[in-house]
Amino acid sequence: MSVQSVAWQPDRQALRLIDQTRLPGELVLIDCTTVDAVVDAIMRLVVRGAPALGAVGAYGVAVAMLQGQREGWSEDELQSQVERIRLARPTAVNLAWGVERVHPHMAGGVAAVLAEADLVMDEDERANRALSARGASWIRERVAGQAPVRVLTHCNAGSLATTAWGTALGIVRELRDRGQLGLVYVDETRPLLQGSRLTAWELGQEGIEYVVQADVAAASTILRGLVDVAIIGADRIARNGDTANKIGSVGVALACQAAGIPFVVAAPSSTVDLATATGDAIHIELRDGDEVTHVAGARLAPAGATGFNPAFDVTPWNLISLIVTEAGALEPDGSPIDRLIPEAGT
Ligand code: MRU
Repeated sequence: MSVQSVAWQPDRQALRLIDQTRLPGELVLIDCTTVDAVVDAIMRLVVRGAPALGAVGAYGVAVAMLQGQREGWSEDELQSQVERIRLARPTAVNLAWGVERVHPHMAGGVAAVLAEADLVMDEDERANRALSARGASWIRERVAGQAPVRVLTHCNAGSLATTAWGTALGIVRELRDRGQLGLVYVDETRPLLQGSRLTAWELGQEGIEYVVQADVAAASTILRGLVDVAIIGADRIARNGDTANKIGSVGVALACQAAGIPFVVAAPSSTVDLATATGDAIHIELRDGDEVTHVAGARLAPAGATGFNPAFDVTPWNLISLIVTEAGALEPDGSPIDRLIPEAGT
């Protein structure tokens, strides 16, 4: 069972999203029928996670076209509204990828764009299931003999962050289905708590045993030998394998290297960005410092304190044990990264 974070509502001609800012307290759906609503949902993290943003980019173009028809936009106006969606968050390459994937279909009308967006959804779920099977097999071969695999994960890379099933949590689900999963350590993932709010919620829905730990506990948990593998998702994988993911990921990777356990990156090939040469070139989103100085709207730092809030960090390829996509799996052995992308036509 997995929840659907993104869906098209044909009756309402609307992009339907689970409002992830309200979880785990309430399961609230919102329907977006304007570009303003789509951009606001992306920026406020109503919808978040790289593959989910890819689908939102694709359906967002249909939302813009429908609004343009209602309001009589010129072609230039329509294109500048589509651009607003493409640029609403800078780090996850999937958002721009989703917009660009449907863009050539705009000439065919809304139905053609929606058909392509539906394909993006289907392909993402298939990719997640394929990479999860491959990732689980790789992990099973390398860790813990036949004992259940104890996993640490950071942020949320589950159904909520994708179109279905999940990437890092997809591997967790796959290990569970194979009867090979031990305890899952969920980093809470400050500042916005995607781990304790979203990953814990998803795991709880399925009865998967987990504990939530403060991010500052992760290194100690790893060095004490309490986990066998760390598995994270990705927002952008550069051509040299450097990987951007939620802030805190690189610290987990360093601890894994020190402890000699694998650090696995799981992502669909839509997250691999051959146009970005190295991690240094990845634009790291700097969010409002209030997200750091406040928790759930309550100020914790003294009045006047300035928060520093980079939303992502970059883990260098040499700290990563495996990057797995639906098309392949690579260890940092000098192989070209394009082996993680399906060959044209496959
Ligand atoms: O700021 P967010 O919540 O969008 O950050 C999400 C992450 O960093 C995820 O780990 C990543 O997008 C992979 S989701 C499968």
